[in-house]
Amino acid sequence: MAQNILTVRGLKKYFPVGKKGLYVRAIDGIDFELKKGEVLGLVGESGSGKSTTAYTVMGIHSPTAGSIYFNQRDISMPSSKRPLELKKDMQIVFQDPGTSLNIKREIGKILELPLKVHNMAPKAQIRDRIIELLEMVDLPADYMYKYPSTLGGGERQLVAIARALATDPSLLVLDEPTSALDVSVQAKIINTLMRLQSNFGFSYLFITHDLSLMRNISHRIAIMYLGKIMEIAPTVEFFQSPVHPYTQMLISSIPVVSKEEEKLKPKRIKPQGEIPSPVNIPEGCRFNTRCPHAFEDCYRDEPEMKEISPEHFARCHLCS
Ligand SMILES: Nc1ncnc2c1ncn2[C@@H]1O[C@H](COP(=O)(O)OP(=O)(O)O)[C@@H](O)[C@H]1O
Ligand SMILES: [Mg+2]
Repeated sequence: MAQNILTVRGLKKYFPVGKKGLYVRAIDGIDFELKKGEVLGLVGESGSGKSTTAYTVMGIHSPTAGSIYFNQRDISMPSSKRPLELKKDMQIVFQDPGTSLNIKREIGKILELPLKVHNMAPKAQIRDRIIELLEMVDLPADYMYKYPSTLGGGERQLVAIARALATDPSLLVLDEPTSALDVSVQAKIINTLMRLQSNFGFSYLFITHDLSLMRNISHRIAIMYLGKIMEIAPTVEFFQSPVHPYTQMLISSIPVVSKEEEKLKPKRIKPQGEIPSPVNIPEGCRFNTRCPHAFEDCYRDEPEMKEISPEHFARCHLCS
């Protein structure tokens, strides 16, 4: 626990919908921890609750139940009630830099704002710090005079990353930071993020729907399905010995380039049916409507998280 920068326990976030008493169970009881300097990939299909997890950790949403600890300090309250010195220590990069940045504001001004709000530098040093932040993301100093509206998506995202770094955080929540970008610039953003991580030892909660992306950059991977974590394991073990049928399904659908790679993959498992609505989550195991191995127990009891091997956990009646 002591080396965890982030600890999440029994976290739930429900949104009321339409008629009284109905809820979207966007996060339905998740537990995980992020170690200092670790990259944890939080992976799931669209609608599985990844962004809601990011927003709840950041205090943008207040939890329906459960707790969030940052360096052992309880931060389960909404962002407005969190101590300022804690808020600066954790930052988020959103999926779409086009909407997360004020594109009519000079980049220098965008970067100056958090420096001033959090008293990060004396007035005389603010300009130098802005240049330093631009350098950290490989942008030239004169970009401070540009407007995001004149930049491409990749460069805008670099500005958003520089802004997140302005408060000298130790934890970054990255919510699909490359998903809205052209494939041609995605690698550049990933490389910059990973260089920053290894140079400065940041902890990343790296959210993505792209499992293959996590293979080379994460230390551990957690798989989310309908608001719950189904499997979590160190990355190498995750790809070598996935135990949850859902994980096997996701890995088996990653495109491969060579025959050797093909041999290493679990046998292709065809997903059956659609993802159920998070308003109406199946009884028992929530994956039972799509699982090729579902049996009686799976329709009756929700499986508990079980330890398969050190640091490897899965939620499945077939796993032990
Ligand atoms: N503010 C909200 N109000 C109501 N429902 C929401 C809200 N935010 C997210 N949801 C719902 O919660 C579920 C999970 O959404 P989200 O966390 O955005 O998933 P992901 O990021 O994995 O695609 C979805 O069904 C989504 O429609
Ligand atoms: Mg999302």
